[in-house]
Amino acid sequence: MPHRPYIVGNWKMNGTRASLAEARAIDRGAARNPGVNVGIAPPATLLAPMAEAVETISLGGQDCHAQASGAFTGDISAAMLADAGASFVIVGHSERRLLHGETNEMVKAKAAAALAAGLGAIVCVGETEAERDAGKAESVVSAQLAGSLPDDAGTPGQVTVAYEPVWAIGTGRVPSAVDVSTMHRAIRATLEGRYGAANAGMRILYGGSVNAGNAAELLHCDEVGGALVGGASLTADSFLTIVSAAAPSTD
Ligand code: PGA
Repeated sequence: MPHRPYIVGNWKMNGTRASLAEARAIDRGAARNPGVNVGIAPPATLLAPMAEAVETISLGGQDCHAQASGAFTGDISAAMLADAGASFVIVGHSERRLLHGETNEMVKAKAAAALAAGLGAIVCVGETEAERDAGKAESVVSAQLAGSLPDDAGTPGQVTVAYEPVWAIGTGRVPSAVDVSTMHRAIRATLEGRYGAANAGMRILYGGSVNAGNAAELLHCDEVGGALVGGASLTADSFLTIVSAAAPSTD
């Protein structure tokens, strides 16, 4: 891993102010692992209080609107996330694509809005089980990247790609190390073709059922620069085991 590994917890629709204690514990653990960049994307309601509660970790949104402001009931803009204490935002998560009908075009616009607001953008892609079974995993991911990535990559490292096979999310199933490496190499090749030298600063995260038991193997796959973690990020115990697994060895 050429850069400091990046371990991001996606809390999804979980957490109230009672969870701030867990965030503080994660923050203390992150401070003990300075070789790892640690982030949490809590529900938007927790961004501001969590920003007050933590010192080391970065905070992010789980989605943003493509517009900066306006008549969009229920939506939150990238600038609002930044104002609440976020430094990044996840866009195009498969739960947004599948449950909220988000298209590649919408994801691309959201990513561009995030960059314009000064946030990092974690752009999620990943195939369904049927697509993998049909031998289309790489072509599906390649098309998602082509349609979802912003034209301008912003500053070095501002764009991150998260490869999350839909069938691995929340299921306890993960692809083989060979399949993860193959996909991540293909994503790197796409980024090279798209951004040239600017791709060098971009991390590619793996996501989907990452846990304390499988993190070390997944994080050592080719071109894996970190992990996007759902369920196992909700408690400091399990999340910090993953953070430790990502810590560069000291030998
Ligand atoms: P999971 O979720 O770790 O619970 O599988 C990952 C994600 O959706 O980002």
